[in-house]
Amino acid sequence: MCGIVGYIGNQNAYPILIKGLHRLEYRGYDSAGIALTSQNGNLSIYKTKGRVADLEEFCKNKDISGTIGIAHTRWATHGEPNNINAHPHYSESENIALIHNGIIENYAVLKQQLIQNGYHFQSNTDTEVLVQLIEYIKILNKTDLFHAVQLTLNEIIGAYAIAVIEKGKTDEIIVARKSSPLVLGIGDDEYFIASDASPIIEYTNKVIYLEDEEIALVSRNEKPKIVTVKNIEKTHEIIQLEMNLSQLEKGGYDHFMLKEIFEQPQTLRDCMRGRIDVSFNHVVLSGIIDHKERFLNARRIIILACGTSWHAGLVGKYLFESFCKIPVEVEYSSEFRYRNPVIYQDDVVIAISQSGETADTLAAIELARKSGAFIYGICNVVGSSIARNTHTGSYTHVGPEIGVASTKAFTAQLVVLSMMSLCLGREKRTIDEKRYRELLKELNHIPEKVETILKSNDSINDLSKIFTYAHNFIYLGRGFNYPVALEGALKLKEISYIHAEGYPAAEMKHGPIALIDMEMPVVAIATDNKMYDKVISNIQEIKARNGCVIAVVNENDTIIKSIADYVIEVPSTEDCFEPLLNIIPLQLLSYHIAVNKKRDVDMPRNLAKSVTVE
Ligand code: M6R
Repeated sequence: MCGIVGYIGNQNAYPILIKGLHRLEYRGYDSAGIALTSQNGNLSIYKTKGRVADLEEFCKNKDISGTIGIAHTRWATHGEPNNINAHPHYSESENIALIHNGIIENYAVLKQQLIQNGYHFQSNTDTEVLVQLIEYIKILNKTDLFHAVQLTLNEIIGAYAIAVIEKGKTDEIIVARKSSPLVLGIGDDEYFIASDASPIIEYTNKVIYLEDEEIALVSRNEKPKIVTVKNIEKTHEIIQLEMNLSQLEKGGYDHFMLKEIFEQPQTLRDCMRGRIDVSFNHVVLSGIIDHKERFLNARRIIILACGTSWHAGLVGKYLFESFCKIPVEVEYSSEFRYRNPVIYQDDVVIAISQSGETADTLAAIELARKSGAFIYGICNVVGSSIARNTHTGSYTHVGPEIGVASTKAFTAQLVVLSMMSLCLGREKRTIDEKRYRELLKELNHIPEKVETILKSNDSINDLSKIFTYAHNFIYLGRGFNYPVALEGALKLKEISYIHAEGYPAAEMKHGPIALIDMEMPVVAIATDNKMYDKVISNIQEIKARNGCVIAVVNENDTIIKSIADYVIEVPSTEDCFEPLLNIIPLQLLSYHIAVNKKRDVDMPRNLAKSVTVE
């Protein structure tokens, strides 16, 4: 949540910071701001409610000179989105400016103490407490900014990634992080600071990922000095990024979400590349092979995730239980972390996260690690906090996912879970060799089947027009398609703001069937698998109550085509891989409905891509 950017070097900071904010806007977009130190040491803050484009408008005719600056795009936690609560925040004397991503949990107590010491607050944010406290401690201890920040962070409870600059100091930025990400880009005599690498990649591919509770003094023309809040010196390996710029552009599509939906044949191939040995037809997942004993002796698998990644985890449960005969629990990270769960040393925990920064999942992993469980991460963002806080894992390798609604990351998570469960099932001998090979062969064909579905984009767009003004939707699925129903409903809710519920099809009759009438579209995932006849009965129950059914069916289906009001066809596949295909038309349907409703598809209201707060 919130994106932070900083620059110090020989170029004008403003254009670099603004471009960086645009790249990070997916992290939060309710207000934006910038602080610049000019050549003569003046410190100016410009900030406004709204998007980065509004900030650019606001900065017209202002003094935007300076080769050092920090900038922020906000997702509000404390204090409504308005001009005053926007970052950066000044200290009392207006000598220090600070931007922050995270939450200061003990802000109320600190604020009270500062008020008693004569400090005045402009905003309702927790962040303003931080910058005021830094100034208070700086004056009290007669010390410099770096040490004041260090002392202050020892008083702080909570999560932070911060960047701080000071009036008159044209040659340093101080940054620090705890539980919120921060990357330092190393250029030629210049440094870039950002919440993730996307604003940096244009200028350099050399980066350092700061670790928790580390502070860096970033000075012009000098190597960054990095210490912990407890003053232990740290050295960091410089990492070479593999990201490229075209991955951050829309590439001719109207929205990132549509681009990302259409990238899926390629991203699925990328995800499998080098992991499925085509000539021998078997999976080579080093994360499993290198830790075979942990997996073979696992008493249980616990899958931890949030949102879409949780839906992928639910498919994972069905996969591991089918192929590996290991009991699996799928937990919302936010519930798991606070409910005193029983965790055994011989549990294997699989944490799934696109961003690798989700605060609840990070905390849940920490809890599991303390109990001795083995932690496997499935992340997309290379070098992210979750990727670095697990024992081993697999990246999904889909490139940056910018649209707030997750699409290509979800299908790649499903592929990783499929490969893991097949690999482990084979090691455990809980899957027959012939069946294993058949399934792998079919998994290899999934990308071309996704290509086939994408050709229906125009007809799905036509269909979407019929439902643009629906107020509610129900999505139904059974077995492997139950998580698809949940995911389809989530996609619709988050980008079109239409209320939608995903349900196991057979559970309808235990309550939700009361909702059915002509006004309530029901999306039934009804592909031909072992639950097919049962799903037909569920569809009949809806039709008997005048419900309107949109069914996802296989190409050769005749029965459901004669019952449902509308059908969307998908190629057939093995039951266990159906989620990989069946979610594609649901992603497209949500996308088109949202576009019809003129919603901001890539940046839906109230949301942010990466949820780094509780
Ligand atoms: O980065 P993560 O996968 O950990 O994010 C988890 C959820 O916040 C995320 O999946 C969210 O639900 C998406 N907006 C869904 O499209």
